Amino acid sequence: MPPESSTTSAEGNAPAPRSTVWRDLACVAALTVLAAALGAFFDFGERVYQWTRSVERFQLDELPATLFVLASGLAWFAWRRYGESQRELRRGRALEQEAERLLADNRRLASQGIDAQESERRHLARELHDELGQYLNSISLDAARIRDLSAEREPEIHRVSLALIQSAHHVYREIGGMIRRLRPIGLDEFGLPTALEHCVDGWRERLPGASFALTVEGDFSALTDTQNITLYRLVQEGLTNVSKFARHARVEIYLVRTSADPGEIVVTMADDGPGTDLTKPRAGLGLIGMRERVEALGGEFHIASKPQGGFLFCARVPVQARLPVPGAPNDPAGLAKSEK
Ligand SMILES: Nc1ncnc2c1ncn2[C@@H]1O[C@H](COP(=O)(O)OP(=O)(O)OP(=O)(O)O)[C@@H](O)[C@H]1O
Ligand SMILES: [Mg+2]
Repeated sequence: MPPESSTTSAEGNAPAPRSTVWRDLACVAALTVLAAALGAFFDFGERVYQWTRSVERFQLDELPATLFVLASGLAWFAWRRYGESQRELRRGRALEQEAERLLADNRRLASQGIDAQESERRHLARELHDELGQYLNSISLDAARIRDLSAEREPEIHRVSLALIQSAHHVYREIGGMIRRLRPIGLDEFGLPTALEHCVDGWRERLPGASFALTVEGDFSALTDTQNITLYRLVQEGLTNVSKFARHARVEIYLVRTSADPGEIVVTMADDGPGTDLTKPRAGLGLIGMRERVEALGGEFHIASKPQGGFLFCARVPVQARLPVPGAPNDPAGLAKSEK
């Protein structure tokens, strides 16, 4: 399967090394000396004069001076073009640097946007839990009290109280689901591997037709908040896609931290479902969001698939991400301080 790469590498036009310039100049000097020596040895000027004496009327003896002017002119012309190409090269390098700077700015902004989104989600989850959750609980308790008081005395009120309890439980469950989607369970308290296991377990229950295998290798204890949530959201979106497009697939998820220090984290998810044709335009924002999240952390994101050939994505995230501007309000876990 041809991987679809997210990375582009700009190869700069390296100028010729100095040694080549001196070698070329030495060639020119050597050829000139050789031509002078051969000319002196064979009396070249006299011979030319003898050959051209019969056609003196054409002024061929003026040719050397003319050729000398032509050669000097060509040297001047080449020198000017060389200067121009050097200026072009410098301009190209400056543009390249500007593009790199803009790209870095873009990544930083994307990262800050994601941080802001996550902190807003966390806030919403807290509000939902603390405000709505508490009131729903009270409603549920009050309804239970009405149910108990009305039992065998007010059948109609009893029936309404039962319906009320059921509705409160339903809303409570829905809100619980929303809270879990907004802020993954256990991510803050127990870390990424446990949160992912919990997430995969949820999908095991919801998708009995599929099978899931999660492999975690390495130490994930010292990741920043942004890295944790990014890696979690990748798996979350990947599993949501499995539930939509590959409900009966075998899904393998690998979360690996490379042994080098500080190294990188590689998340791979592969399924053997129906796959898709990547050459055709795709609807949806999930994969785009995944790519943006990974690139905002200075990582790479690849997908591979073909019809009836399963689907795979692989994200590589450097552990020491070059992220926020030092001193910026969104500098999770003091990342900027650890920047090299
Ligand atoms: N596991 C998969 N198996 C087969 N096709 C997939 C899989 N994951 C994604 N795709 C294909 O890639 C497309 C893009 O996925 P993406 O997650 O970006 O969008 P979506 O899931 O359709 O919508 P959204 O994520 O915005 O709700 C999908 O429409 C689907 O065709
Ligand atoms: Mg999706």
